[in-house]
Amino acid sequence: MDRSLCLCLLICLFLQCPFSYSWKSLTFLDLGSNLLEGPLPASLCKLEKLQYLLLSDNKLTGTIPHCFGNISTQLTVLDLRRNGFHGMIPTTFPEGNQLRNLGLNGNQLEGPLPRSLINCKSLEVLDVGHNHITGPFPDWLGTLPELRVLILKSNRLQGPIGNSSNKSSFQKLKILDISYNQFTGYVPAKMLENFQAMKKNDSETTQRQYMGDGTYYLDSVTVIMKGLEYEVKRILTVFTTIDLSRNQFEGNIPKSIGGLDSLRLLNFSHNNFNGLIPTSLGDVSALESLDLSFNQLEGRIPPELKKLNFLSDLNVSKNHLEGLIPQGGQFYTFPNSSYTGNPGLCGFPLNDCGEDKGPQSSPMRVSHPTDLLDLTSGFTWKPVLLGYCFGMILGAAVGFLMFSTRTPRLFVAMVEDACKRLKRPRRDLYVPMAQDTSKRSKRPRKEALR
Ligand SMILES: *[C@@H]1O[C@H](CO)[C@@H](O)[C@H](O)[C@H]1NC(C)=O
Ligand SMILES: *[C@@H]1O[C@H](CO)[C@@H](O)[C@H](O)[C@H]1NC(C)=O
Ligand SMILES: *[C@@H]1O[C@H](CO)[C@@H](O)[C@H](O)[C@H]1NC(C)=O
Ligand SMILES: *[C@@H]1O[C@H](CO)[C@@H](O)[C@H](O)[C@H]1NC(C)=O
Ligand SMILES: *[C@@H]1O[C@H](CO)[C@@H](O)[C@H](O)[C@H]1NC(C)=O
Repeated sequence: MDRSLCLCLLICLFLQCPFSYSWKSLTFLDLGSNLLEGPLPASLCKLEKLQYLLLSDNKLTGTIPHCFGNISTQLTVLDLRRNGFHGMIPTTFPEGNQLRNLGLNGNQLEGPLPRSLINCKSLEVLDVGHNHITGPFPDWLGTLPELRVLILKSNRLQGPIGNSSNKSSFQKLKILDISYNQFTGYVPAKMLENFQAMKKNDSETTQRQYMGDGTYYLDSVTVIMKGLEYEVKRILTVFTTIDLSRNQFEGNIPKSIGGLDSLRLLNFSHNNFNGLIPTSLGDVSALESLDLSFNQLEGRIPPELKKLNFLSDLNVSKNHLEGLIPQGGQFYTFPNSSYTGNPGLCGFPLNDCGEDKGPQSSPMRVSHPTDLLDLTSGFTWKPVLLGYCFGMILGAAVGFLMFSTRTPRLFVAMVEDACKRLKRPRRDLYVPMAQDTSKRSKRPRKEALR
């Protein structure tokens, strides 16, 4: 193919050409979003000064050379996401390394997570989602003092999760996505208590900050928000989410969840949680999206949830809930589909509970047919579509997530590259703009239109 480029050739050129001296002092190499193919040459490891190696969204294959665990103690960002690598993750991360972001999402890597990751004391982002990684929950990652983002989504991990008695375990964690694995057992209350960074901290919200080193590279992740997948190109430090969906967790939802009062998205769907919905969920005052669907929860929906002023998305469908749906607050804005599959539930927007009072004047429905995310007055998502081209960048779909700090409003601005779209389906950014929502939204629009 004329447009494809042989990385091997390129690197050989780097190292063999008369200017190899200067290549060896290369610190930043970004060849992301190209059509590079073939294996990753081990000679890359000779670039001893390399700090950023960004090769995401290519078609690279083969194994990750072992020397990569050892590539240089200078390396801070290794981004190999969305390629075709297979085999094991390098196992030799040395002590004293500077690795801050390890992105391996979207490959076919297998085997367990290497223990030597424990030497990556500067690691802030570990994204190994969408691979074939096996083994138990990596509890020991809790000792990484800087870890903020842990994405294990869609792997073959199994067994119970974190039961560390160490109070400083996972204390800086803000984004935890372990969905689509085979985790079992209870969610330990202790573990949630340890998530200090998901608790309110006024000193942090006074400044708008993105994750990353603020110079060359901003950390990005893919998250499911309100049922849609977004590539968040800039992670605000205030963005906090827990996604445990599609596992086999059981038992009660721990009351200690109420302590995580700066949590924004919570997804416990498709598990076997039972018992009551804890009333303490009403204390998670920043919560915007709550998905408890497809569990075995019973009893009433606690009226305490009316306190959640920012809740714009609720799904408790397919449980055994019963009684009156709380009336008031954001509960006037949720459609019938939030509650389906709970025959015992009643009250607006479903049928009256028992006594026939004749036609009830139903409270005003705030849902607006044309704007999926801009649902209520107390809460505003402002999707903005800006098209722009960067000459050499191919088909990147870019999402910005911004948080205005004074007033608690969340703005989502989505930027879609107008030049070109990649054909891989998972790279598609859903843009909830007016005309498109009916097609792309998973929320049944007919409900809102009625
Ligand atoms: C890693 O680097 C150290 C020091 O440079 C060296 O002694 C060791 O052999 C290397 N290991 C691998 C697997 O390359
Ligand atoms: C708890 O974890 C921290 C690092 O996260 C470590 O320094 C400390 O030694 C651990 N304490 C115990 C009792 O294991
Ligand atoms: C966690 O540890 C406690 C005691 O330290 C134990 O009773 C409990 O069963 C453990 N939970 C899991 C899921 O391993
Ligand atoms: C709040 O955030 C600041 C700055 O990030 C940090 O130094 C402080 O320890 C945090 N406080 C708590 C209680 O977590
Ligand atoms: C929760 O997770 C499930 C499974 O991963 C997903 O289908 C659903 O859209 C998520 N809910 C929200 C509100 O994002």
